[in-house]
Amino acid sequence: MKIGIDKIGFYVPKLYLDIETLAINREVDPMKYKKGLMLDKMAVAPLNQDIISMGVNAAHSILTKEDIEKIDMVLFATESSIDQSKAAATHLISLLSLKKNIRALELKHACYALTAAIQFAKNHVKENPESKVLVVGSDIAKYGIKTDGEPTQGAGAIALIISKDPCIAEIENVSGLYADDIYDFWRPSYSPYAMVDGQYSNEMYKKFFLESYEDYLKKSRHKKEDIDAFIFHIPYAKLGLKTLSLIEPNIESNLYQYFNQSIVYNQQVGNIYTGSLYLSLVSLLEQGEMKDNSRIGLFSYGSGAVAEFYTIKLVNGYKNHLNKIYHEKLLENRKALSIESYESLISTHLTNDIKFEDENESYCELKEISHQQRKYNIKAV
Ligand code: CAA
Repeated sequence: MKIGIDKIGFYVPKLYLDIETLAINREVDPMKYKKGLMLDKMAVAPLNQDIISMGVNAAHSILTKEDIEKIDMVLFATESSIDQSKAAATHLISLLSLKKNIRALELKHACYALTAAIQFAKNHVKENPESKVLVVGSDIAKYGIKTDGEPTQGAGAIALIISKDPCIAEIENVSGLYADDIYDFWRPSYSPYAMVDGQYSNEMYKKFFLESYEDYLKKSRHKKEDIDAFIFHIPYAKLGLKTLSLIEPNIESNLYQYFNQSIVYNQQVGNIYTGSLYLSLVSLLEQGEMKDNSRIGLFSYGSGAVAEFYTIKLVNGYKNHLNKIYHEKLLENRKALSIESYESLISTHLTNDIKFEDENESYCELKEISHQQRKYNIKAV
C-alpha cells in the first residue's frame, strides 16, 4: 500500500517586513542579508493571527467535505505554543468542523515536530487504511529586536493530508536519524523570544545533516545519484545552499537548479520553524519542473537536537493537485510594514482581555481573549 502526501497547502499572514528596510534601520549592509543570508522578505503576524488561526487558514485551503468525513487524527506541530496544557489541535476540531471521534494532539520538538507528525500519521494510515490524517505545522518565529537572529524571523503555517493512494507523493520507508543533547537554539517556557548560539547552531545543523544522510545511505543502500533533488529545513536559504555543497561540489549539477526552485517561497516568508522544510517542498513542486516519479530527499532538523533524512517519490500527475495560483496570490497580496509597525508587532505579547475588530481578511482570525480563553472568527463562505 502506498501512503503519503495527498494534499499540501500553506498560509502566510498579510504583513511583511522588507529585509532591506530592516538592514538600513540596523545600519547593516543590505547585501549581508540579501546575499550573505539569501533573504528577501520576512512575514510578520498581525495581532489577530496566532498559530491557531494560521493553522486553520492553511488547513481550510486544502480540505474538502470528503476529507473531513475521513479524518480521524489531527496532529499540530509547533514550537510557539500558546498553552502549556490545552493542545492546539483541539481548536481545529471546532474551527474546521472535524468529527469528534478523533485523536487530537500537539507535538513539540523545535523545527522537527512536523516531520515526526508526518511519520506518525503514516503509521496510523498503515494500521487504518481508510483513514486520513490532518497534519498542521504553525509558528511565529521571534528572536527580538536588534538580535543577530532578527533577520531570520517569520510566520506561517503548513497543512498536509496524509492518506493511502496519495495524489502528490509517496513517503518511502527508510529514515536516516541522528540525535544528541545540545543547546544550539532553545526557548525556555518563561521567554517569548528564542535563544540561540548562532554559529554553533549552523555547525550543528551541517553535522546533523551529514550524520542523518549517512545513516539513510547505509540503511537504504541508495547512492546520491538515486535522489533527484535535496530539500532542507530553511532557517535562512544560505544555510541550505552551504549544506548542499557539502555533498555536491559541482555547481553545474541539477541539484542546484532544484535547490533554487525550492527556496523561492522561503525567501518571501522567512523562517516558519516547523513548516519551513515543507514550504520548501511546496516551492519546489510549484516553482520547479520535477518529473513524475522523481525522488526527493528531505532534511528535517530540530534544534536541541534531532535530524531525520528521508525520501518521497512524486506520483503520476502530482502537478494537477497543487495550488500554485492561490499561493502566489497569497504572497503577492501582502502589505509592507514600516520598521516602527514591525517593532511594535514583534514586541507585543498577547495576554488576557483583548478584543479585535472582525477584519474579514482571512478565513479565520483571532476575535478575543477573555476569561483566559481564545475565541476565533470564521468567515462565512
Ligand atoms: N555582503 C555580502 N555578504 C556578507 C556581507 C556583505 N556586506 N557581510 C557579511 N556577509 C556574509 C558573511 O560572509 C556570511 O556568509 P558565509 O557564512 O557564507 O561566510 C553571512 O553574510 C552571514 O554573516 P555572519 O555569519 O557574520 O552573520 P551573523 O553573525 O549576523 O549571524 C546567523 C548569522 C548565525 C544565521 C544569525 O542570523 C542567527 O543567529 N540566526 C538564528 C539562528 C539560525 O537560524 N541558525 C540556523 C541553524 S539552527 C536551525 O536551523 C533551527 C532554526 O530554525 C532556528
